[in-house]
Amino acid sequence: MKRPSHLAIIMDGNGRWAKRKNKSRHFGHIRGTQVAKSIIQECAKLKIPYLTLYAFSSENWLRPAAEVSILMKILNKYLKKETTNLVKENIRFNTIGDSSQLSEEIRSIVNDAKNRTAHCTGMTLTFALSYGGRQELTHAIQAIAEKIKSGDLKSDMINEDLVRGYLPSNHLPDPDLILRTSGEKRLSNFLLWQSAYSELYFSEKLWPDFTEADLQEALIHYSSRERRYGRISDLPSTQLT
Ligand code: IPE
Ligand code: IPE
Ligand code: MG
Repeated sequence: MKRPSHLAIIMDGNGRWAKRKNKSRHFGHIRGTQVAKSIIQECAKLKIPYLTLYAFSSENWLRPAAEVSILMKILNKYLKKETTNLVKENIRFNTIGDSSQLSEEIRSIVNDAKNRTAHCTGMTLTFALSYGGRQELTHAIQAIAEKIKSGDLKSDMINEDLVRGYLPSNHLPDPDLILRTSGEKRLSNFLLWQSAYSELYFSEKLWPDFTEADLQEALIHYSSRERRYGRISDLPSTQLT
């Protein structure tokens, strides 16, 4: 079965899941973290080389302060508890996003997880944290403009490879498959540059209900997709007229 090298997931629906159960959104985020843990393990088992999880968007800072604080606490607890397991499972951890917006404490825990897993050679797990595709592109444009201003770069040297080089995610291949749960069919500012030719898969399941079997279903679906990148299929020459 053809598998994605890079699977990126928009884990959505924690709040609605909790609401349906008459619980606080907090409860949904806790359950969502447990699901993230099992999906990370499953992807490592399936030997998917790159897994990127959209954990917190640039726009999620606009949520009520109490919810932001809870999300940060959950992240803090997850990383403190899970880094040892990531090392054991040979999973390399990293992040994309604007870390300057994160608290000192979270930044240091994130850095600790990155450092302690830096030697790991199995799956690369990336958390998109305080991440926005537009913000990432805006920063890249600013950095390129600075280089032009200082005379280190000429505008006719700007091409796709150069732009890509200015994106903090340039160590990751483009996602082959972007999966979003909760039935919403949008990217919500996720990997805008990198998703140009990604396959998109939308699951109706809310993230806290998403299972290994649902992941399998998405992967089976992906394996049947024909990716043409603007070209045409490899048809026998008789059909090419
Ligand atoms: C995803 O679930 C988690 C984050 C965005 C941090 P939501 O919190 O967006 O849940 P819904 O979409 O409101 O149900
Ligand atoms: C996208 O979900 C961000 C994450 C899953 C972290 P949102 O719930 O924030 O997106 P919208 O508001 O439905 O577009
Ligand atoms: Mg949502």
